[in-house]
Amino acid sequence: MRKNMIAGNWKMNTTLSEGLALAKGLNEALKGKTLQCEVVIGTPFIHLASIAAAIDTDKIGVAAQNCADKEKGAYTGEVSAAMIASTGAKYVILGHSERRQYYHETAGTLKTKVNLALAKGLTPIFCIGEVLEEREEGRHFEVVDEQIKASLFDLSADDFSQVVIAYEPVWAIGTGKTATADQAQEIHAHIRQTLAARYGAAIAGDTTILYGGSMNAENAKDLVAKADVDGGLIGGASLSVEKFLPIIEAF
Ligand code: 13P
Repeated sequence: MRKNMIAGNWKMNTTLSEGLALAKGLNEALKGKTLQCEVVIGTPFIHLASIAAAIDTDKIGVAAQNCADKEKGAYTGEVSAAMIASTGAKYVILGHSERRQYYHETAGTLKTKVNLALAKGLTPIFCIGEVLEEREEGRHFEVVDEQIKASLFDLSADDFSQVVIAYEPVWAIGTGKTATADQAQEIHAHIRQTLAARYGAAIAGDTTILYGGSMNAENAKDLVAKADVDGGLIGGASLSVEKFLPIIEAF
């Protein structure tokens, strides 16, 4: 079933005590509220277990921001999907443009990570999106299609049904320059068509597709009002309850 979702991506921000305070603050703010969307927070690895233990994870899902492309073993410094799942986290953000760009993650590596995450029962929040030059050249549709096909299209229909897609135009991330609601709707509808061509209209219709990139309390309502925008992946504005809460309440 297609779900509405607002997910925070804290990136490399907050010490453990700051992160715990933020998560507990959000937990407190949502108490007693009936929400029209699922809420997820993507925290640094080292926060996962403490935060999952400190909040109501039925109300706020916990996500890692990456996972290893190996199952286990001698891979110093890596964190496996099984380790993430063992903390109580239910989601993992994969393929964020910052990981593709700064850590050279390829479509092939991401395909492996998606498979490992699904095998451990985690929901991948799989990020795609074009850079400014690609948009200016009118290649954004083909860029996202290629990203989806290369990392996801070998999945079975059952496995694919577990995946959440996050469209994040790289030029809108952390720039204050958000895509317009019409631009988001146009490419989300295109993404859904691409999914339908591979998995059929029913599964494509059930897929949650988030928008990410400078989403905030001001623009969230217009974005999520669009038929194919099912929520958001929020960076900067997820780092304070005051800024994140109105986005959750945009539904
Ligand atoms: P901002 O909301 O800070 O632009 O970041 C978006 C993002 O990259 C979420 O993954």
